[in-house]
Amino acid sequence: MQKILVLDFGGQYNQLIARRVRDQHIFAEIKPYNKITVDEIVAAGYAGIIFTGGPNSVYDPASPHYDPAILDACIPILGICYGCQLIAYMANGRVETAGSISEYGKVELTIGNDPLFDGVPTQSICWMSHSDYVSTVPDGFTATAYTASCPTAAMSDPSRRIYAVQFHPEVTHTEYGTQVLHNFLYNICGCTGDWRMDNFTEDKIKEYKNKLSGKKVLCALSGGVDSSVSAVLLHKAIGDDLVCVFVDHGLLRKDEADSVERIFRHTFHMNLIRVDAEERFLKKLSGETEPEKKRKIIGEEFIRVFEDEAKKIGRVNFLVQGTIYPDVIESGMGDASTIKSHHNVGGLPSVIAFDEIIEPLRDLFKDEVRAVGKALGIPEELVMRQPFPGPGLAIRCIGDVTKEKLETLREADAIFRDEMVAAGCDQHASQYFAVLTDTRSVGVMGDARTYGKTVALRAVTTDDFMTADWSRIPYEVLEKASSRITNEIPDITRVTYDITSKPPATVEWE
Ligand code: XMP
Repeated sequence: MQKILVLDFGGQYNQLIARRVRDQHIFAEIKPYNKITVDEIVAAGYAGIIFTGGPNSVYDPASPHYDPAILDACIPILGICYGCQLIAYMANGRVETAGSISEYGKVELTIGNDPLFDGVPTQSICWMSHSDYVSTVPDGFTATAYTASCPTAAMSDPSRRIYAVQFHPEVTHTEYGTQVLHNFLYNICGCTGDWRMDNFTEDKIKEYKNKLSGKKVLCALSGGVDSSVSAVLLHKAIGDDLVCVFVDHGLLRKDEADSVERIFRHTFHMNLIRVDAEERFLKKLSGETEPEKKRKIIGEEFIRVFEDEAKKIGRVNFLVQGTIYPDVIESGMGDASTIKSHHNVGGLPSVIAFDEIIEPLRDLFKDEVRAVGKALGIPEELVMRQPFPGPGLAIRCIGDVTKEKLETLREADAIFRDEMVAAGCDQHASQYFAVLTDTRSVGVMGDARTYGKTVALRAVTTDDFMTADWSRIPYEVLEKASSRITNEIPDITRVTYDITSKPPATVEWE
């Protein structure tokens, strides 16, 4: 399989670059610039390298630099933004601060004749975000594009197959960005587009059939997308040699635990152990109001429950983890033993005996995981599921967590989600849910005054969950949800809608 290296210099679009390469059916992996040497790059046989952007200036002593030997390693290179300036710097060109002529946003680009621009019109719109620029191209290079403020919007040295652009071809605002990447990948690197999700699924099933048949394999199933897809993939490979443990901590949404059981036990006929641990969790949580402590209690209890089950199962050979590529990147390119740390199964492997961790999805982005899930026949409701925190409703139930409060929250949340789906708003919001606040307020029902609970509804739109905007849901949808919640749940007198973005708020209320 051909692969492209995305050499990471700290830019904000690095994952996007890798995604764009994979969209063109070529496998891409991201490595931090300081974690891979030129020799390692050559030995790995990459078809091409993309230098990413980065927040620094090349003359800043703290800026990330790279061994100039890479320029003579006979591997095609595409530098983007900081990557472009770095190539100029490494090859003895000149980089200057643009000062007042810095470019941010959509800019008109004029191109010359260059293989990188095959099929791109002379004038088009590109996306710029820079305050430095290449003022003198290095020996052997020619400037191949310009804008009104930037004399070197692109440059190339075709004899060494080194290309560089000051703009960002990976963002959709660059009109011909996909074409530029296509030219680099197919025409310059000679890739043929051999990365397909169907091949991935079939190859993995074959690989695990050979490696794991007859062995004992354990999987902690949370019902989330990643662990579900991992479990079904492994089940296709080794059938009943896979044992899945699903801990129902009593903090899931309405009907969720039953639906997980139905799908895995009855649709996929998997060897599933469902542990009903609601009482254990509620007992441990009793009286606790501090959010971080609630999280800790749940994380620890999860391990204890899993440990108890693992003892009954005995020694296993392999443990399946639903690690996906962004987890690997975020944990600093961890080695094979890196464990998803923020998640509800964090720390699990240290408490049970096993020989090796199996992470079938560690090379995939979330939407690729979803594509594998669909190809494996996992129902849409599960594959497209919105993110749900490991500690579950406990962090959406403000203050102490009780069975009664959870019941109230579950009902309100189910009504809101129903109405969002009925109105088609689920297609636009990335995450939407109800929160049971600890505020009581006065209300009136018939002739009587009431003093009931307040529910907050939250819906956000986001690409990466690092920042988020509150969703502009139509008033009619909010009205219907509010009226159903107050009518159908006696305990609730008031419904509010959260109109705070992240930052300054977070998505969850805690
Ligand atoms: P915040 O509240 O920090 O949340 O803006 C960002 C995203 O992360 C989800 N979240 C979690 N996901 N385990 C998870 O797998 C957790 O403990 C956890 N806590 C928050 C949250 O729902 C949102 O999508």
